[in-house]
Amino acid sequence: MQVRTLILGAGAAGLMCAAHAGPDTLVVDHARAPGEKIRISGGGRCNFTNLYTDADRFLGGNPHFHKSALARYTQWDFIELVDRYGIAWHEKTLGQLFCDGKATQIVAMLLSEAEKAGARLWLETEVGAVSHADGRFTCRVTRGGKVHHIAAENLILATGGKSIPKMGASGLAFDLARLFGLSLTETRPALVPFTFDAGRFADLSGTAVPARVGNDRQSFEEAMLFTHRGLSGPAVLQMSSYWREGEDVVIDLLPGQDATQDLREARAQSGRRAVTTALSQHLPARLVAHLGGQIDLTGNLADLSDARIDTIAENLHHWRLRPTGTEGYRTAEVTLGGIDTKGLDSRTMMTRHLRGLYAIGEAVDVTGWLGGYNFQWAWSSGVAAGRAI
Ligand code: FDA
Repeated sequence: MQVRTLILGAGAAGLMCAAHAGPDTLVVDHARAPGEKIRISGGGRCNFTNLYTDADRFLGGNPHFHKSALARYTQWDFIELVDRYGIAWHEKTLGQLFCDGKATQIVAMLLSEAEKAGARLWLETEVGAVSHADGRFTCRVTRGGKVHHIAAENLILATGGKSIPKMGASGLAFDLARLFGLSLTETRPALVPFTFDAGRFADLSGTAVPARVGNDRQSFEEAMLFTHRGLSGPAVLQMSSYWREGEDVVIDLLPGQDATQDLREARAQSGRRAVTTALSQHLPARLVAHLGGQIDLTGNLADLSDARIDTIAENLHHWRLRPTGTEGYRTAEVTLGGIDTKGLDSRTMMTRHLRGLYAIGEAVDVTGWLGGYNFQWAWSSGVAAGRAI
């Protein structure tokens, strides 16, 4: 069987690419349904883009690589498409756009666009050996027990990263990239909770606080959640992309406040109040009790010397913790790293050395922040490749 374009992966990037790649396009995927990550994303409402999409909200070996695709298919272009399909949406916070209804509306929209463009979709299709000779790619696939050899002028690697293997994530794009001589950057789970020694935050499990979580390279001020395994919540997920094993993270539990000044004022005004009671006005009582196990919070405010106030304030603004690790690909929203952008043309996403071979989406070494940026990269890179074909 012969097609002009074969897209491996019917996820966000693959479907978007299919909608732009023109007729005679076949999309294959081993999953039962297309766009499964879209379906479950954003708690079922899909945070499909971010109003503030900007190149500095992406990580990758080359901080300029993603600029071209993001500029040529922007968040406004995707919003226009969503509006054209009458899909209602709202901004939740920090420019994050979610469907009012179900995320499956986005999947249906992409399928409709791909179908209009003339693309076919084969699901539950296993990808076998892939080769290249005489300017053509040949891919052996198995569908419904039947083996097909598909010849294609263009081969698009759109099978995503390694995150959430339970949902069908595989290293296929990376294996094929290697096969065709592309280099890879180190891959690691990102947008993922931190783990700590068992029971470290057992007394706090379920408690959420606004916090600034950071290190000397980056910090994020958003919600932080204590879990029975460790730390989660947006501020922590964001920070995980900038963290390496063996490093500390520093947590400001009172971002934007001055604990020294607040405690001094409280001491002057109501010295007979317990220190823990005063702190509980700013932090959940369970967290104050937990901190009391590490720093001296006994006595009344009047008992506090300036030096003790400084120590307490230092601990509240610079709580230094060392994660033992992360929850890994099992729960990571994305894979950091991937196909090295040095081998790709940033306008078209085609590999520099092999005509017709493209890589798009999460498989590429471009990773966005939490908040709709990763889908925007999938849309933009998918369109870039689709238009170039
Ligand atoms: P994607 O993973 O979407 O698609 C890859 C496709 O390839 C899948 O359909 C898979 O079945 C198929 N495939 C894989 N291996 C294969 C093989 N060996 N053979 C055949 N097919 C194969 N981002 C965001 O911007 N906003 C959000 O709200 C969220 N929320 C979110 C929640 C959760 C739980 C996760 C795990 C992730 C998110 N993300 C997100 C990230 C976002 O889902 C991700 O960045 C994009 O889906 C990446 O799009 P791709 O098309 O590159 O991969």
